[in-house]
Amino acid sequence: MTTSQKKRFDLAVVNCGELLTLAGDDDRPKRGKALSDLALRKNAAIGISKGKIDWVGSQKQYRRSYSARQEINAEGAVVMPGFVDPHTHAVFAGSRELEWVQKITGTSYLDILKSGGGILNTVEKTNAASQKTLFEKAKTTLQTMLAQGTTSLEIKSGYGLNLQQELKILKVIRRLNKEMVLDVVPTYLGAHVIPKSSQNNRSAYVKEVIESLTKVKPYATFCDVFCEEGAFTHSESKQIFQAAKSAGFQIKLHAGQFSDLGGIDLASSFHAVSIDHLDVIKKKDIPKLSDSGTMGVLLPGVSHFLALKKHAPARDLIDGNVPVALATDFNPGSSPCLSMQEIIHLAVLHLKMTPAEAISAATINAAHALGLAQQVGSLALGKQADLLLLDLDHYEQLPYFFGSNHVHTILKKGIVVNA
Ligand code: NIG
Ligand code: FE
Repeated sequence: MTTSQKKRFDLAVVNCGELLTLAGDDDRPKRGKALSDLALRKNAAIGISKGKIDWVGSQKQYRRSYSARQEINAEGAVVMPGFVDPHTHAVFAGSRELEWVQKITGTSYLDILKSGGGILNTVEKTNAASQKTLFEKAKTTLQTMLAQGTTSLEIKSGYGLNLQQELKILKVIRRLNKEMVLDVVPTYLGAHVIPKSSQNNRSAYVKEVIESLTKVKPYATFCDVFCEEGAFTHSESKQIFQAAKSAGFQIKLHAGQFSDLGGIDLASSFHAVSIDHLDVIKKKDIPKLSDSGTMGVLLPGVSHFLALKKHAPARDLIDGNVPVALATDFNPGSSPCLSMQEIIHLAVLHLKMTPAEAISAATINAAHALGLAQQVGSLALGKQADLLLLDLDHYEQLPYFFGSNHVHTILKKGIVVNA
């Protein structure tokens, strides 16, 4: 075939030693054994046109029948989809390193929260910060996440705890989505904890959250509740979800971080898109979760950072056919971790997931946890060309060589976004 007869892509990534496409039946999250299938191709190439995946095949086929305006030579490296981080609290002011030292030396997360610290500490600082200051700080956060390979993420509000302050955070999230290259999905977490001003009148705050829903709706896709001892009860969570459903929100929930308040029942009755944490659950509830279709989002950064012995029973969940995803839960109290690479390492170490399972959970299943699986999460034809070139010979090295950033080139919608 002469050069003029060859189809010409805008961009091609050639000489991929291992190309993890993760492509398969992308209409449904991966479960059970399918979680281990990375749809790996050796010595492969990938053609990109108009920011989308146009072609995937062997290096030989590429040389024979295709060309591109620009070529990136992966030189035998691992190439994979950008990470999707489906659970973060990335917009806040300040940090809480001193509380962490208290925690490590014996004071519990919930005791710090009860004494007015923890989430309420960050609420105070966030309420005092301007929208501009919050935006600038979050922008730096997202730049670091991107440099570590995260190309799409979810961000929750939840450090405002009144309508005006929650809207301030949601507006920052909207601006991040607009001005940065990452895709940012907004979640309303007005029900994070009861604010100081309502400590003696919980029901008034639950009512306030319910009344805020229609005003907040234009700014958020999901409504989340922290259903936990020290935060919201099962019955309060239920009231909020009922109202959120009628207001048109999709549901997510924080459940089973420290105690089991019946989160799996809530998730299945409200057809939640995801239930996040799941460190403390009853084994007998696993079939119910599997039948519900709700994604289990596991956050191994939390139990690691808080030095907890209890980790999410990932093996039981996977073997019980529950679709699982992984996320950083980036926040200043329980997981100040920006890197999905680190989370994959922790998932293998503490959750006993295999490297392949962890990679599926951090890409295609994470995209499902955000309702983004038609656009991102795998290198299937027609999807956004969000991809990473890693300085690794084999994907199994990703969690093995821990503590460094293996991403050296990042493409978002077919454009190289790091130098
Ligand atoms: O997911 N659990 C509730 N929210 C966060 C913690 C937020 C914080 O401590 O500031 C979490 O762990
Ligand atoms: Fe969280």
